[in-house]
Amino acid sequence: MRRPLVAGNWKMHGTCASVAELVEGLRQLQLSDAVEVAVMPSFVHLAAVEAGLRGSRVEVGAQDCSVEAGQAARTGEVSASQLADMQCRWVLVGHSERRSLLGESDAVVAGKFAAALQGGLVPVLCVGETLQEREAGETLAVVGRQVERVLDEVGVENFARAVIAYEPVWAIGSGLSATAEQAQEVHAAIRAQLASKSQSVAGAMRILYGGSVKPSSAAELFGMPDIDGGLIGGASLNADDFGAICRAAGC
Ligand code: 13P
Repeated sequence: MRRPLVAGNWKMHGTCASVAELVEGLRQLQLSDAVEVAVMPSFVHLAAVEAGLRGSRVEVGAQDCSVEAGQAARTGEVSASQLADMQCRWVLVGHSERRSLLGESDAVVAGKFAAALQGGLVPVLCVGETLQEREAGETLAVVGRQVERVLDEVGVENFARAVIAYEPVWAIGSGLSATAEQAQEVHAAIRAQLASKSQSVAGAMRILYGGSVKPSSAAELFGMPDIDGGLIGGASLNADDFGAICRAAGC
């Protein structure tokens, strides 16, 4: 049985004051043990969020890491081992905003995934197609290629220490979530791709859905057989909404 995970990606949002308020709201949530919960603040707020959530059910992750796992001359970058030292447990790799706006290639994403593992973090590999690719009928090919590139880099056995998040680019921040059926189709394809290399890794892999998840849509999405939780953007900036989404995954 896979334990659902709900993670909040705060992106480049928040001030010291608003983040402190959000942390306080998260501390008040009654969260079921059936679901794992994490938030990913911006690097500058990591230390405060980690301290504020210590002792709570909510763990801390980061939104990115360097391809260099340890110390290196990489001005402006943050390594997985530095994040682990900050008590981070999770890190997003390959978010579509980094792929499209910051030019991260599949090769760079694969390098970051490997570095995250080396640094002791759990990588959350983000994959997803653009609207153009969906309309051209290329969704499964695009997502399959994104996953395959990382499989080639680290081998399927290392996916036992990772999570995958399917986030259709057109659904992110648009208010237009994929339907539960659309998401399920892609999740099942990702699991089948893993199963062709390892049944046990495929069976245990948590595949999260992300893209305009709201309290009102969460239960239907999380009710699908291959959707094991969510990666939440906008709605994770409100503790009550985030809590409602976590509850939808935990029962
Ligand atoms: P939204 O929930 O705001 O659509 O963002 C999803 C996302 O990109 C999470 O990583």
